[in-house]
Amino acid sequence: MEFFYQIDETNLFSPQVWFILSIFLFLVQHVHSFQFEELKKYIDSHQEEYVETLREWVAVESVSTDVQRRPDLERMMDMTAEKLRDMQGTVELLPDGTTIPLPKVVTAQFGSDPSKHTVCIYGHVDVQPASKEDGWATEPYNLTDINGNLYGRGASDNKAPVLAWIHTVEVYQKLNMELPVNVKFIIEGMEETGSNGLEAMVSAHKDSFFSDVDWIVISDCGWLSRRPALTYGTRGNCYFYAEVRRTRVQVEGPKEDLHSGVHGGTVVEPMTDLIGILGKYYTLISPSGEILIPGIEAAVAPMTDTERETYQSIEFNTEDYRRKIGVDRLMYSSKVDLLAHRWRQPTVSIHGIEGAFSDPGSKTVIPARVVAKFSIRQVPNMDPKEVEKQVKEHLEAAFAKRGTPNKLKVTMVIGAKPWLADPQQPLYEAGKAAVQRVFNVEPNLIREGGTIPIARTFQDVTGKPIIMLPIGGFDDGLHSQNEKMSRYNYIEGTKLFAAFLHEASQIKN
Ligand SMILES: *[C@@H]1O[C@H](CO)[C@@H](O)[C@H](O)[C@H]1NC(C)=O
Ligand SMILES: [Zn+2]
Repeated sequence: MEFFYQIDETNLFSPQVWFILSIFLFLVQHVHSFQFEELKKYIDSHQEEYVETLREWVAVESVSTDVQRRPDLERMMDMTAEKLRDMQGTVELLPDGTTIPLPKVVTAQFGSDPSKHTVCIYGHVDVQPASKEDGWATEPYNLTDINGNLYGRGASDNKAPVLAWIHTVEVYQKLNMELPVNVKFIIEGMEETGSNGLEAMVSAHKDSFFSDVDWIVISDCGWLSRRPALTYGTRGNCYFYAEVRRTRVQVEGPKEDLHSGVHGGTVVEPMTDLIGILGKYYTLISPSGEILIPGIEAAVAPMTDTERETYQSIEFNTEDYRRKIGVDRLMYSSKVDLLAHRWRQPTVSIHGIEGAFSDPGSKTVIPARVVAKFSIRQVPNMDPKEVEKQVKEHLEAAFAKRGTPNKLKVTMVIGAKPWLADPQQPLYEAGKAAVQRVFNVEPNLIREGGTIPIARTFQDVTGKPIIMLPIGGFDDGLHSQNEKMSRYNYIEGTKLFAAFLHEASQIKN
């Protein structure tokens, strides 16, 4: 400073100029917060319009798991593209890089100012199937407002969050405010079937569409409690089939089922073998939750003190959780242990047995072929390839001990890796600031027990930092009956996104 004072009075950095400059900066600051008030006001006053658009979107039965519904899904993708085009976005439908005819991925770009950061928003507009007969209280494709909750399939997963992002851009446009960052969208229609073809598409456009992207934002999950949250990790999943079948002497493959009265007692039954290796003596998981497949627990990253502290500070009531899922006792009573086992410890779930007699009534049958379906949630530093080997060896050794003439075949059909980000990085600071601005609280820093493979794919293929910025409630019932999105989360969530774009623009390179 001394240096400046020695220069003559016309110099730009005289105390007077500094004074005027600080007033100017104060005004800029002031004008900015004023602008956020404008954004909030606009969003509040257009609430009904936003709910109406959500109603139109929910009305489209864009189920991706059912090929019969492909025309509806295509219509949903077209509606999405049209909406973005109406807003003067540069819209491109990108083929997925596979040869299978899948719905094209909708991409759009708003702004291409090289002096600004670029945020890429990922979302999906396909949904899980739903019908009134499944036990819905309302028509699943007729958005119904009950006490401020908007019930409808896909409302929370993921149509309202996608619309909230689109409306965010629209609000800036309508108020003639410059977007603080360039915004790109990548919206797919195959998420609920495992994002078929998306990885190939991302790889193919890594050096074009993704080249100028600074960060990727995913809003395809929910809060943990009533407190807004930022999500920095998801578990992966390895899904297995364990097939036991009766062998035939000359021809490979199972013969027909047998009458248990006529033949019972003369053959080793495949079902007994299967239960035998999954059950009592060679369990995959102990009643206290310990995974008994050698090597798995050893691969799990140890919990750090910082992590423990983070878990401690999370707003989450174990008793509410217990009541909500309806069990007498949870496996862990402390909040930290419970959250750790939801987010950062692996677990085994046995989902069902194909070929088993499961109808009501009693049928005396010896199934010729049974297939157990089970999965193991993946966490750092487990490696799906290793897990596949460990599971196969464990079950094959157990099977060999039975000395049965039947055949066992273990196959891993899905091997999705976990995703984990550093919540201390600037991107998460921007998320925290946005939550603070809209909700006036510190967000819960959470992980997701479920698997959102796309996060890991984005990370591996593009190398860009990723943040999950959820706006769904903790009780939205994704994939379940009576899925909903509350008006509060939808509208305040739109404000959160608007604030996030500003906070992201403030990140220093
Ligand atoms: C949706 O539900 C409302 C009542 O909640 C009803 O008036 C309307 O006719 C329904 N629409 C369709 C398309 O079923
Ligand atoms: Zn989803």
